[in-house]
Amino acid sequence: MQTKLLRPSEDATALEQAGALLRAGEVVGIPTETVYGLAANALDPMAVARIFEAKGRPQDNPLIVHIADLESVKDIATEFPPEAQALADAFWPGPLTIILPKQDRIPMVTSGGLNTVGIRFPSHPMAQAIIRAAGVPLAAPSANTSGRPSTTTAQHVMEDLNGKIAAVVDGGPCSVGVESTVVSLCGERPRLLRPGGISLEQLEQVLGTVEVDRALREKIDDTEKVSAPGMKYRHYAPKAPVTVVFGTPEASANYIYAQLGENSGVLCFDDCAPRFAGAAVVETFGPSDDAAEQAREIFDALRRFDTTDCTEIYAQCPPADGIGLAVSNRIRKAAGFHVIDLTEDNT
Ligand code: TXA
Ligand code: MG
Repeated sequence: MQTKLLRPSEDATALEQAGALLRAGEVVGIPTETVYGLAANALDPMAVARIFEAKGRPQDNPLIVHIADLESVKDIATEFPPEAQALADAFWPGPLTIILPKQDRIPMVTSGGLNTVGIRFPSHPMAQAIIRAAGVPLAAPSANTSGRPSTTTAQHVMEDLNGKIAAVVDGGPCSVGVESTVVSLCGERPRLLRPGGISLEQLEQVLGTVEVDRALREKIDDTEKVSAPGMKYRHYAPKAPVTVVFGTPEASANYIYAQLGENSGVLCFDDCAPRFAGAAVVETFGPSDDAAEQAREIFDALRRFDTTDCTEIYAQCPPADGIGLAVSNRIRKAAGFHVIDLTEDNT
């Protein structure tokens, strides 16, 4: 299959073409404000099956259903409790996914066999226009090969999926850069399943206390049942193994410098790069004091390692607050939670 690169900036029919392909049951890479999505008609099991095939994604990992107006929720979820309304008022359209009990018309293949469904109303104007042009809600995971870092440019999507999907819509680089925050409203209390573009602090301003899923901080065994099945798989990973060094920028830079071997790569803050002048490979992901910029750059930086020969990677990591929680979660996952914590008291 030849993958078409559709450019709305040059071709006024690009979004309509994407909509027509989606209506015909094809899979299309689409820009959103978080990361690129691998979209198909959420109501068509055959179309959704093509997403899993193109990504190489495990079947039990549910997909998020994307909508372009609030009314569509009533066709997807069986209920929309006051907490959901409050979250929608505060953060939709935007980088938040809300898990609710699903209606029967959402096929089991879309929800990974669960009775619940993740719903997101993205803010990216092209994402909204494509959903409207398709005329159906769109199931879309991140548009990467399963296990690889998510994609934040159309070129990344082509790297992973060229020849496997009908088209990619080029909307330029994503403005948030990490995926949406996933919050479940299906239990007794709201629960954060994945940190993302909306911070835990922002959620708590609207909902009060939010429980934090254990899978966010620890590695979960492959056989364990977890609330967000996606959290248990190795993820975001470059080919070389990654070790995260957690601590102040200065402490982690000093520690990493002392470990460097001939083929070591370093993933570091912009301001720490001069410290690693002798290292084989140095990739930066934004200033140490700007977690929003780190979010925009992290996946591209992780991907760049795969064009190098380094055999191990040491990574710096921001503190886990604000959007830093999402950045730190992605780096820890890329490392399979292999973390050296310099802030722990070892005396
Ligand atoms: O920002 C995003 O959310 C992007 C863009 C394209 O919208 N999408 C995305 O999808 O990141 P994906 O499939 O890569 O990640 C979705 C995560 C997975 O960890 C999945 O297990 C979880 O959300 N999830 C989806 N539906 C769920 C459900 N019904 N219950 C629990 N977890 C769910
Ligand atoms: Mg993903």
